[in-house]
Amino acid sequence: MQIKDQPGSAIGATVEDFDHTTASAADIAALKNTVYTKKIAVLKGQDLSPQEFLELGKLLGRPETYYEPMYKHPEIPEIFVSSNVPKDGKQIGVPKTGKFWHADYQFMPDPFGITLIYPQVIPEKNRGTYFIDMGRAYEKLSDELRKEISGTRCRHSVRKYFKIRPHDVYRPLSEIIDEVERKTPAVRQPTTFTHPMTGETVLYVSEGFTVGIEDQDGNPLDEELLKRLFDATGQLDESFEHENIHLQSFEKGDLLVWDNRSLVHRARHTTAPEPTVSYRVTVHDERRLHDGIRAA
Ligand SMILES: [Fe+2]
Repeated sequence: MQIKDQPGSAIGATVEDFDHTTASAADIAALKNTVYTKKIAVLKGQDLSPQEFLELGKLLGRPETYYEPMYKHPEIPEIFVSSNVPKDGKQIGVPKTGKFWHADYQFMPDPFGITLIYPQVIPEKNRGTYFIDMGRAYEKLSDELRKEISGTRCRHSVRKYFKIRPHDVYRPLSEIIDEVERKTPAVRQPTTFTHPMTGETVLYVSEGFTVGIEDQDGNPLDEELLKRLFDATGQLDESFEHENIHLQSFEKGDLLVWDNRSLVHRARHTTAPEPTVSYRVTVHDERRLHDGIRAA
C-alpha cells in the first residue's frame, strides 16, 4: 500500500495497492490516519461487488444503515444508493442526492465519523464532489466572528431537504412535515467542537442542515449570524470559486473515504443530467463525532 499527497491541493491523498482482503491492522490504521489528517483518501483501482464494498467499510468501523428505506441497495441494505439510472425499468435508490452543502447525518443525534463513496456510473462532463474543510475554515474566520460564536450551539434539521417518498404522493404536506419533525426532530450541537482524532477545532455548520443558532442559555440568536458563517466559509458561493472550496474529481475504480467530522460536501450541479450512480457506506469509528456526545 502506498499513500501519496494529492498534488496541487491542500487536502486529499491517493492510496495505491490497497486490498481490503489482505490489509494488515497497520494498513488500516495508516488509512484512517490519512482520512483524519488529509481529509479525503482516494483508494485507486478498486473492483468490488456491493458485498465487498461493505466488507471494506467494516474494516474502518461499524456501518450505519440509512434511516429512510428508499435509499437502500436492494441486496445490501447498508449501502445507500444515489442513482438516476433505472435498472430493469425500476428506480434503484434515489436520484439527485446531496446537491446542497452538508455533513452526512448532521441532523441526527449521533453522526458517524467516516463516509465512503464508491462511484459506479461516472458522468463524463460534471464529475466530482465539492468539499470544504471546516477545520481550516474555522482557522480563517475573523477573531470577531470566532468570539461571537464562542459558547453557542446550532440546531440541525433535515426539514429543508427531506425528499418526498413514493408513498407520500397524495398526502397533505402538513402531515409529511409533522412526520419529519416527529421522527427526526432538530438536534443541537456545539457550533464548534474538538475533532477527537486530530485535536483541531471544527466549525460544524452547513447551509443545508443548520437551521438555527442559539446562545449558551438556549436563546435564539439572529439568523444573520449563521448567514455570515456560511458566507465566510464559502458555502454561499454559487460560482464555487471560493478559496475554501475543493473539487474532488474521481475516475472509474476510485473509492473515496472522507472525514465526515471536518468536511462539508455538496454534489455537483448539472444542467443536463448525465447518468450517475454511486454507492455509499458510512461507518462509526471508535469515537463519537465529538466527545460531547454520550454513548446511547
Ligand atoms: Fe452527503
